[in-house]
Amino acid sequence: MIEGMVLAALGTVATVGGLLVAPATAGESAKSAIAPGLVLPSMNAERGKKLFAGKGCVVCHSINGVGGTDAVALDEKTMDPIMSPFDFFAKMWLGAETMIAMQNEQLGQQIEFTGQDLADIIAFVHNADVQKTFSQADIPADIKEHMESDKASSGSQMMMEGHGGMVSGKSKGQ
Ligand code: HEC
Repeated sequence: MIEGMVLAALGTVATVGGLLVAPATAGESAKSAIAPGLVLPSMNAERGKKLFAGKGCVVCHSINGVGGTDAVALDEKTMDPIMSPFDFFAKMWLGAETMIAMQNEQLGQQIEFTGQDLADIIAFVHNADVQKTFSQADIPADIKEHMESDKASSGSQMMMEGHGGMVSGKSKGQ
C-alpha cells in the first residue's frame, strides 16, 4: 500500500511529533521521489502503538511506564526533539546484535517487521500524545506471556553483561 507522504525536494519543512517531514502536497503523485527511486512512507503513531506492543518491543522497552526494563525506555522525551527516522533506525542497528540475541532468547525468534511497520513504530516513539494513551491493556496476551516468563527466568540474563539495567529492577513498571 503506497500512501506516501512525500518530501518535496525544495518544499517547506514542518515537524510532526518531533519528526522532520514535508507537507503532503495535494495532487502530487505518491510515487514522487525524495531522491531517485526513493519514497517515504506515511507514519501512523496509532498503528505504531499496536505494533510496539504486538511485535514485542514492549517486552524489553517501556513507554509511559509500560513495558520491560531490559533496555532503555523509548519515551518521546528521551528522543532528540527533532530527528530523522533514519537516525532512529541507525540507533537500532547499533543495538541490533544485542537485541537479536535477546529476542531469540526471550521471544524465541528475531522480531520481523516491514518498512511500513518500522515507520509506524518510529512515529509512535516520537508522539508524546499517543504515548500518554499507552497502557497494559494494549499488550496482547501472547506478548504478556513472554514478559512473565522473562521475569521468571531473569537469572539467565546475567550472561549478557555490560548493558546497564538489564538485570536489576525487572518488576519496575510492569
Ligand atoms: C528482547 C529484548 C528486546 C526487544 C524485544 C527489543 N529490543 Fe530494542 N534493545 C534491546 C537492548 C538490550 C538494546 C541495547 C543494545 C545495546 O546497547 O547494545 C536495545 C536497543 C534499542 C534501540 C537503541 C536505543 C538507544 O538509545 O541506543 C532502539 C531504538 C530499539 N532498541 C528499538 C526497538 C524496537 C523498535 C523494538 C521492537 C521492534 C525493539 N527494540 C525490541 C532489547 C530489545
